[in-house]
Amino acid sequence: MDLVKNLVSDLQVLKTIWFSKITGDSHKERLENFYGPQADAYDHFRARFLHGRRGLLKECAKKMIELDTRPGLVWVDLGGGTGENVDMMAEYMDLSKFERVYVVDICGPLCEVARKKVQARGWQNVEVVEADVCDFVPDTMNATLVTFSYSLSMIPPFMTAVDKALSYLDPKFGILGAADFYTSQKYDSPDRQHGYLTRWFWRATFDLDGIDLGPERRQFLDRNLEKVYEKNGAGGIPYVPLLKAPYYIWLGRVRRYGPPNGN
Ligand SMILES: C[S@@+](CC[C@H](N)C(=O)[O-])C[C@H]1O[C@@H](n2cnc3c(N)ncnc32)[C@H](O)[C@@H]1O
Repeated sequence: MDLVKNLVSDLQVLKTIWFSKITGDSHKERLENFYGPQADAYDHFRARFLHGRRGLLKECAKKMIELDTRPGLVWVDLGGGTGENVDMMAEYMDLSKFERVYVVDICGPLCEVARKKVQARGWQNVEVVEADVCDFVPDTMNATLVTFSYSLSMIPPFMTAVDKALSYLDPKFGILGAADFYTSQKYDSPDRQHGYLTRWFWRATFDLDGIDLGPERRQFLDRNLEKVYEKNGAGGIPYVPLLKAPYYIWLGRVRRYGPPNGN
């Protein structure tokens, strides 16, 4: 019975991803029209699609565990969707080490799923905030960990989103982590490099769902933060044989010294 239920919910997600036209006058409207019909099916499908999430959370947890003796760890998950990352993070570290966790998302239907999850798990330190990450600032005014898990590619003013996050990331201990699909620059570092067809195919395909895989997002992170971890890989897509979509995991901290090349 569960098999049939899961198959039906997967088909609902696939229909939205491959065949629905995204409509709406604002970013929020477009996201709600896209995610609304698949909100309840989101977690089941994305568990086999967003391959960088676990690696991101594992590496972030390691960094947080190093800071274990510091009281008041604060985690802001930007574009946190259904709050699934909080559930996964519990596999890598004790969630009670966080004084506060903010799951921030602009999409009402996904926030609703996240709120139900918070209630069901009895998380007292997790708050779901329905807001644009470009405007959001945590009440604590300081964050030890900020994550963009497959969200940076869906935020058109991504520079504003990162700048805003840097305005409250703890300058001494803070870690900013991102995982996302990507395409490389024409001439990139060997571990990121894609050929012409790969760059063209993935960028054009994801573009249909309002997702921008251009390399400028990671260039902006590289430019504004000091990288402490990176992994580039590729992962399968449910019901699509052979194809593997490229993804990255990237962690950085506030620069101790000037930007690269001394500029
Ligand atoms: C692919 S989903 C990823 C959700 C979740 N982080 C995960 O890993 O499963 C991208 C998320 O970014 C959110 N998002 C996009 N633009 C946003 C914005 N400007 N402010 C807040 N959330 C945004 C979307 O609503 C969506 O939940």
